[in-house]
Amino acid sequence: MEMNYDVLAPVHESAARDRALAALRRESPIEWDAQNDWWLLTRYADIRSVSRHPEIFSSEPKGPWHVFEHRFSMQAMDGKRHLRHRNIVSRAFTPRMVSMLSARAIRYADEAIDALEGRRSGEFVTDLAVPVPMRIIADMIGVADGDLERFREWSDAVVFMGGGHADPDQLARVGALVTELNEYVGEKVRERRETPQDDILSRIIEAADEGLLEDAPGFVDLDRRLSPDEVKDMALFLLIAGNETTRNGISQGMLALLQHPRERARLAADPSLWETASDEILRWTSPVRAMRRVALEDTTLSGQKIRAGESVVMVYASANRDETVFPDSQSFRVDRSPNEHLALGFGPHYCLGANLAKMEIRATLERVLARLPNLRIAAGCEPIFTPSALIDGVESMPVEW
Ligand code: HEM
Repeated sequence: MEMNYDVLAPVHESAARDRALAALRRESPIEWDAQNDWWLLTRYADIRSVSRHPEIFSSEPKGPWHVFEHRFSMQAMDGKRHLRHRNIVSRAFTPRMVSMLSARAIRYADEAIDALEGRRSGEFVTDLAVPVPMRIIADMIGVADGDLERFREWSDAVVFMGGGHADPDQLARVGALVTELNEYVGEKVRERRETPQDDILSRIIEAADEGLLEDAPGFVDLDRRLSPDEVKDMALFLLIAGNETTRNGISQGMLALLQHPRERARLAADPSLWETASDEILRWTSPVRAMRRVALEDTTLSGQKIRAGESVVMVYASANRDETVFPDSQSFRVDRSPNEHLALGFGPHYCLGANLAKMEIRATLERVLARLPNLRIAAGCEPIFTPSALIDGVESMPVEW
């Protein structure tokens, strides 16, 4: 099909993009993208099917595309190696830990709003979308309060690295910050190993040290423990996977509510709608726009031959608007149910932070709707979007209230 619009273009032309994706779903759901040398998958059923078959469609490193796909992350592993890493982290995400973090998320959202006292305008991303995910990750890794400002700089550096910016001077400066972060997290791993605390990093170290996880779901026979460096990389991946994604979910979610004033009013009037609203925000905004897999063998997908070694890109942003799955798929409805969107992936790599992410989006936006009820885009301003093929992010969004 002749495409007159790059569906992975780093611009936020949402109407044009949605039209292009709808045309692909209808006319060419498995489309060879010659510019990038990969297949674009746009239908919900095909994306679910690929996600469900890691023995055919591998997650192993596929070359640099975004830091989310970084070599060290479980997201870029297959088979037993993947399961071993996943089991360790999932053992740390206990319901008690997530509920403890939930109480904190509400407090952090309130503190972010308190800090705006006396002001009538601000920048939504920095003031309101950054604090909750950043502080929750900081708590997970055990960052001391005194180190929070430095941690914010480092976590912004990681976000910048993933943003597709090209200025070499800036990249060098940001690269130095990421090295500092690596050293800091390495230090935290050493500290926690000696003196465990009530945080996720300590639980990860415990699980990693046990070596054999016989009671874990999907038990694998582990032949060795994880090294401190592997644990450090795991903690860094949590920062990559859980910070920018959730920040963008919050910013894009606010934007969706601003663009749909009736839905926003319903949610403000009836907070019980948050039971379904976070999922609709995720479906609507797909903060992780797409993910890649590589075919390990020749195979056929919905009648299309895919050869071993070829990449397929699962465009979640398209699956989430698939009209054969979601009635009235181009409408944003905070009470949508059922809502089995793919914004958090599907299958063995399904997002480990799914509940945490939904909780953080809700905590932040529920407090904003309650305490800054007339927040709006600042007069004469527009949001600026992240120049990335993979992440649908907002870099800045001037607001007033
Ligand atoms: C709105 C926020 C978020 C979005 C949209 C999101 C999206 C995703 C997606 C699409 C995947 C699947 C990747 C694949 O199949 O290749 C994934 C995996 C993952 N996510 Fe999230 N995520 C979010 C928040 C979080 C948070 C808060 C954490 C934890 C702190 C987290 C941790 C992970 C981990 C560890 C994986 C890898 C799982 C695996 O490979 O087995 N995510 N996420």
